[in-house]
Amino acid sequence: MTEQTETVRLLGISGSLRAASFSTAILRAVQARLTLGTELQLMTLETIPLYNEDQDCKPGLPAIAALRSLIAASDAVLIATPEYNHGLPGVLKNALDWASRPAFESCFRAKPVLILSSATAFTGGVRAQYQLRETLASMQADVISTREIVIPSVDRKIIDGQFQDEDSLAFIAAGIDRLRQQVLSRRVPVLS
Ligand SMILES: Cc1cc2nc3c(=O)[nH]c(=O)nc-3n(C[C@H](O)[C@H](O)[C@H](O)COP(=O)(O)O)c2cc1C
Repeated sequence: MTEQTETVRLLGISGSLRAASFSTAILRAVQARLTLGTELQLMTLETIPLYNEDQDCKPGLPAIAALRSLIAASDAVLIATPEYNHGLPGVLKNALDWASRPAFESCFRAKPVLILSSATAFTGGVRAQYQLRETLASMQADVISTREIVIPSVDRKIIDGQFQDEDSLAFIAAGIDRLRQQVLSRRVPVLS
């Protein structure tokens, strides 16, 4: 099997619950443009309750079990986040807190992750990325180091609810290529 035809399964997580979220629209646009061999399943975080260690026990909450197994079953994760008050939204941090347990053995351990941010401001939500990187580093995720994918003036790039900026999408596609390479580089070759 060649690299191009090997399937890589990505999980896309939006850091916004807003029905008309730009972050979610970006993930949808990415999903619609994927090339052969890359799949992207999207999830939003409506069903994730506030973290409570008392509830973080076996068998645990179904929504949390589902979150952890979706992450575990994916080859890599793509996170699209807005910036809230110069940081990452509480909704996203909360979900990552759930996903981070058990500590040092979580579904995020060694998981390749690509992050992107967007904002109506010209800063493109980049400050959220630094908090997000720190949080992911604490759970030993393998955050892909590439040029930051930031999408400024995102509201002007949405037409009829769809994200339509081809330059940004090409930039994101290059990041996904790096993510894909990282996943494939770890696979044990199958000898024929
Ligand atoms: C509570 C709150 C805080 C925000 N703080 C920032 C901020 O610090 N920097 C920024 O660029 N935009 C900020 N914004 C604007 C968001 O970037 C904008 O609402 C964005 O579109 C939200 O993402 P979404 O479209 O995916 O829901 C803030 C919005 C909210 C609701």
